[in-house]
Amino acid sequence: MTAPVPANGDAPRRDWTVLPLLEWAERYLRERSYGESRLNAELLLAHALRLPRLGLYLQFDRPLAAPELALFKKLLLRRLTHEPVQYILGETEFMGLLFEVTPAVLIPRPETENLVEEALRWLRSSGRAGGSVLEIGTGSGNIAVALGKFLPGAHVTSLEKSSDALDVARRNCARHGPGNVEFLNVDVFSARFDGSIGGRTFDAVVSNPPYVPGAEFDLLEPEVRDFEPRLATTDGADGFRFIRRIAGLAPGLLRPGGGMFLEIGYGQADAAEIIARESGLTGVGVRRDFAGIGRILRGFAPGTGPQP
Ligand SMILES: C[S@@+](CC[C@H](N)C(=O)[O-])C[C@H]1O[C@@H](n2cnc3c(N)ncnc32)[C@H](O)[C@@H]1O
Repeated sequence: MTAPVPANGDAPRRDWTVLPLLEWAERYLRERSYGESRLNAELLLAHALRLPRLGLYLQFDRPLAAPELALFKKLLLRRLTHEPVQYILGETEFMGLLFEVTPAVLIPRPETENLVEEALRWLRSSGRAGGSVLEIGTGSGNIAVALGKFLPGAHVTSLEKSSDALDVARRNCARHGPGNVEFLNVDVFSARFDGSIGGRTFDAVVSNPPYVPGAEFDLLEPEVRDFEPRLATTDGADGFRFIRRIAGLAPGLLRPGGGMFLEIGYGQADAAEIIARESGLTGVGVRRDFAGIGRILRGFAPGTGPQP
């Protein structure tokens, strides 16, 4: 990329202001097939100018100082390697909260908010909002911190294999303040769970596990394949390794009537339901998204307890 030039090929301008620069960057990204080109251009320029994104709209005529222009160009060049904009900015929003993200953690996805909302709804409506929740696969801490924040009377235990991810999660927890979240550096496959974790059993088990089959990893978009942690994305097997393990653990870790809520991938619903039933869970079902795609597997431990 050369210095920003207008599309009509005029000589490079030294007097860039916000609006023409935004329009130029949007076009530059779009012509190279980057999605959400306007949003990306706005986020990167706002970051370079240390403004909230909407602040750009109040400063369309603001001229950029040379260091600001140089910084914007550097950020744009990173995006042009397919680096996700969230890693460039170092943060993203989840459930209305800002989370630090580094290459050690998966970038929280908007669809995972549905998983958290489903678990919150069930815990509240079943009278378990003050109970104990287990989350598996902490990442940035987005799910655990949101559950802790929105269920202040609950206790959340969150397990993660990557200690680098846990460092990020602990910072995010400190940033948002819930004092009811405990992070443990645990490999869910090698740990032995003898019916409890630290003496606790759980009202809910919640997880967004790595569910991309190993064979599909290389087909993922470069933003994911080349930048997000492989450990967070694929199970290196058939895509069901974590679903089998977590559904297998759930009946032993859940209190009677407790619920398991797992995010699953495209095309996994039918097999995931069978796995959950064969693991001894009851009331098994899959919540579909607005496009009819099964996204959340749920099932309940046998025993008394409301199962809405
Ligand atoms: C799909 S990411 C989910 C991250 C975050 N909870 C979210 O929803 O954005 C899965 C997480 O599981 C972690 N993980 C992978 N293998 C694991 C294992 N064997 N035991 C525990 N955690 C593991 C990964 O490091 C990653 O942080």
